[in-house]
Amino acid sequence: MPEGIPFILGHLHHFVIPPLTAYSLLNLFHARLPFYVNTLLYFLSFIFYVALRVAARWIKDVREMRRLGAQRAPRWIGKYPGNVDMIGLMLQEAKTGYVGDHLTKATNDIGSAFGINILGDFQMFTTNPEIVKIILATNFPGYEKGRRFKFNMRSVLGDGIFNSDGDIWKFHRSMARPFFSRERISDFELFGRHADAAISKLAARLSEGEAVDFQDLVSRFTLDSATEFLFGSCVHSLSNGLPYAHISPRYNSNAPSADTDAFATAFNNALLTIITRGRIGLLWPLGEIFKDKTADDMKVIRAFIKPIVQQAIAQKKENAKLESSSNTEHASGKDEVAEGETMLSHLVKSTEDEKILMDETLNMLIAGRDTTAALLTFIIYCLSRHPAVLQRLRQEILMHLGATRSPTPTDIREMRYLRAVINETLRLFPSVPFDVRRTIKATTWPSDVPGEKPYYVPAGISVSYSAFIMQRSEKYWGPDALEFDPDRFLDERVSKYITPNPYIFLPFNAGPRICIGQQFAYNEISFFLIRLLQSFDQIELATDAQPLDSRPPAEWKQKTGRAAIEQFVPQTHLTMYAKGGLWVRMKTASAIEDV
Ligand code: HEM
Repeated sequence: MPEGIPFILGHLHHFVIPPLTAYSLLNLFHARLPFYVNTLLYFLSFIFYVALRVAARWIKDVREMRRLGAQRAPRWIGKYPGNVDMIGLMLQEAKTGYVGDHLTKATNDIGSAFGINILGDFQMFTTNPEIVKIILATNFPGYEKGRRFKFNMRSVLGDGIFNSDGDIWKFHRSMARPFFSRERISDFELFGRHADAAISKLAARLSEGEAVDFQDLVSRFTLDSATEFLFGSCVHSLSNGLPYAHISPRYNSNAPSADTDAFATAFNNALLTIITRGRIGLLWPLGEIFKDKTADDMKVIRAFIKPIVQQAIAQKKENAKLESSSNTEHASGKDEVAEGETMLSHLVKSTEDEKILMDETLNMLIAGRDTTAALLTFIIYCLSRHPAVLQRLRQEILMHLGATRSPTPTDIREMRYLRAVINETLRLFPSVPFDVRRTIKATTWPSDVPGEKPYYVPAGISVSYSAFIMQRSEKYWGPDALEFDPDRFLDERVSKYITPNPYIFLPFNAGPRICIGQQFAYNEISFFLIRLLQSFDQIELATDAQPLDSRPPAEWKQKTGRAAIEQFVPQTHLTMYAKGGLWVRMKTASAIEDV
């Protein structure tokens, strides 16, 4: 059911109580007034009601602030009443701006923590690693994802790990943890199969003299790997034809018709809808009075997942029957992961509830697929802009593995430059650039000015933080913060910047809700990059093939920061991605010799 009607009904009392009270008072005093005076009074009653609520909140805040010995945090003030112009600014930035432009500017102008009040909805924002540490780790119980996050996301994320708090979140985390707790060699086989399929697809297309949308390619790779890893049933998106660039005579000859493309499209659309809800803010349900905008996409997504979940439940029952008839014991307990088990067949040991299983696996797919594809895309972008880094990385790969051998987990652990390239890309282009929590109780954050009273943070408000802005800040990373330089993860800058202040680098979050798939992601990405660079030794951006509406706008050249040098348009929904894809050409390595 669309959220619009329940939203209106849930808020109706705010519109009914004031005029009803005014009407009752007029009746009580037998006032007989002209119609227009009555109308004006009803309207004023509403203003009075709002003023009363604001005053009550203000008094409560002042009391709490005194109790906590705190001061008001600085505010970001817009141009128009209610700071409504900020909604426009954010929507415009999402369309044509550079990611985080406005919040970076506000951070530079105001400080590392400030409040924003849009139409009475007060939120706080920070890029201070000390505060982010408080939110994610030291005062973890003081923050939650909260009602609003869940409300915006639930038509897609349901009640999965991403969208839950408290005991339900603990339950999800404990169900998923064993699956990520050890390195599973079989994952490498899985990465190997899909990486090889993707790379041969890429090679075939490049050999036609065509450019390739790398983002599309790796999104298929991560979709196929993730669906097989999670469900044991791959969507085979790599078996469909790759799209041709708009400049190619073959453009449009690969019409997306297969179900797997329908799944990927529905998946992207659903994510875009939920993130747009977040951008619109409190009033988004009013745009969905008659129709839940995710409904059609979720139908496609569920049509894919549901039969797989049902099959897994049926399989579990079948196994149980066989075991009881042959009197054998379960190969593994519900917390252990048996060899070759998928996440779904593991989860099914804990519950047969179809909704929990669908929500859980879909949450994993959302968490693991786009994040990994985005990172691979950004790594290729950075390597295309820094050929010396590309060559050094190839040297390391060839030295350890030669031109053909597949890596093992030990190989990957030993390749320090590879890890530095991945981390440096994650620093400049974190797949999750912004994140949000909700305060449970009133609390405080340290002020920017040492020795000053801390900032007051009210109860029940959204607090956002940005790994993206923090990880590009000269204050925390030094004067070359905006440059791509993997050596900063290897040289003296580690002990100068990162070791004393580890919360400046948070691409996977931190604390109890740290990304559960972090190691999986490092392995998957390392594996893919190694196989790719064993085959190709030059990468260049095919800017001619990039769709016209996804090229960096000319005015970016006048901007400060990375916008002025960027050759693609980074955008965000839940995760960051390259607008219009990332079109590249690559050169096959000739007569590769082992180093
Ligand atoms: C480059 C790849 C990845 C990045 C940058 C990344 C980043 C993150 C971040 C920042 C969060 C915290 C989100 C929040 O608190 O709202 C997170 C959570 C999570 N990630 Fe990842 N992730 C990646 C890959 C993966 C993979 C491959 C999987 C699983 C297969 C995965 C599973 C999860 C899950 C389940 C959570 C929720 C954890 C919780 O709330 O307890 N991630 N990830």
